[in-house]
Amino acid sequence: MKIGVVGLGYVGMVTALSFSSLGHDVVGVDVDQARVQALRNGKSPVYEPGAEDYLARTRAVFTSHYSELNGCELVFIAVGTPPLSDGSQNLAFLRSAVDSLRQSGYRGAVVPRSTVLPGTTKRVVAPYFEHVGYNPEFLAEGSAFRDFFNPDKIVLGYEDEHTLSLLREAYEKIQAPRLEMDLSTAELVKYANNAFLSLKVAYANEIGNISKNIGVDVYRVMDAVGLDRRIGREFLNAGIGFGGSCFPKDLSALIAFSREVGYEPVLLRAIYEQNAGQPYRLVSLLKTRYPTLQGLKVGVLGLAFKPNTDDVREGPSIKIVSKLLEEGAEVHAYDPRATENFRKVNPELSTRVRYHSSARECVQSSDAVLILTEWQEFSDSSLYDGKPVFEGRRIFGREGVGW
Ligand code: UDX
Repeated sequence: MKIGVVGLGYVGMVTALSFSSLGHDVVGVDVDQARVQALRNGKSPVYEPGAEDYLARTRAVFTSHYSELNGCELVFIAVGTPPLSDGSQNLAFLRSAVDSLRQSGYRGAVVPRSTVLPGTTKRVVAPYFEHVGYNPEFLAEGSAFRDFFNPDKIVLGYEDEHTLSLLREAYEKIQAPRLEMDLSTAELVKYANNAFLSLKVAYANEIGNISKNIGVDVYRVMDAVGLDRRIGREFLNAGIGFGGSCFPKDLSALIAFSREVGYEPVLLRAIYEQNAGQPYRLVSLLKTRYPTLQGLKVGVLGLAFKPNTDDVREGPSIKIVSKLLEEGAEVHAYDPRATENFRKVNPELSTRVRYHSSARECVQSSDAVLILTEWQEFSDSSLYDGKPVFEGRRIFGREGVGW
């Protein structure tokens, strides 16, 4: 079938390339000409393992003209829904995509993939299109293609049978439980799913902080807890807290939404609060060895919010580097992929950091080393040259925030 994808960021690009590799005719639209041109040239605008392989063999068409979507039976919208200052959702990009779709004369089904609060699709999309659905994605950066083709579930939100049949056809080649439900339920599933994953992380960090104070290794504790079939080991890795463009944003939005609908979300607030303080625990740990950081050369290995991505959004590295600089440390940093994005995220902060082109050079320039991202290359113990290493993410399990 002919499928459109509006918004070619982390989610939209993976969605377009994946549907295309399933044999659908795909048209990907983005208003960012540079992004479109990069994709046409087979270059992924973001780092995602496998993207360039899919780009090399895709038949998908990339354009900035919405008019090329005419003829599509189904258009997914995968534009950003970033948080506003009060944590609520910024729907400007979604509204703009809907308006452009309308003006282009498109009359087929419209299905947002972006994470939107319950009621949003009905309020923002349904008034303008006869056939509307909602299809949340559960793609994690760094494993997005694997997640697309091997999902735990496919959630199809719909209000009319025609849209449901189109969504079934789009996904027919993927084996996974399908949950077909109304729009609001499907929209809440995404938030509930992400909030629970962030709860697991915050819980592991809470137990890790207790463990640290009694000399227990929280990973050993979670290896046992995770064997409980009702719990599961994944997302119980303690560290410097969760970051990324999803968990913090989605939690804030769900907290704001809960209040709008008359409920004070005490547990969600606790997750947010626990996570907000977690990055600073690594700086406190460093200060148990160096009471003052003034003039201390601190090597920071890893800036990305997790390995195998170039994304630093809401990453713990931003808070940690800020705190180190505030305490007078001389910060040296290295990340295999995320340095450029880190420079952009906070230009003022960024000019005060000394960037290196290798982990070894960064360590050699430092008195002590902090590991903020568990990139595979950081597990080479010869890197550290006997320097004190403090782990914000588990590499060796020697000295870390929860072990
Ligand atoms: C997440 C969800 O996993 C995905 O399903 C959803 O569609 C988008 O949000 P992502 O944000 O890309 O994906 O990364 P994820 O792998 O979930 O990690 C999120 C954060 O939690 C990272 O900062 C990671 O370091 C942290 N984390 C994860 C932990 O600290 N401990 C863990 O055990 C797992």
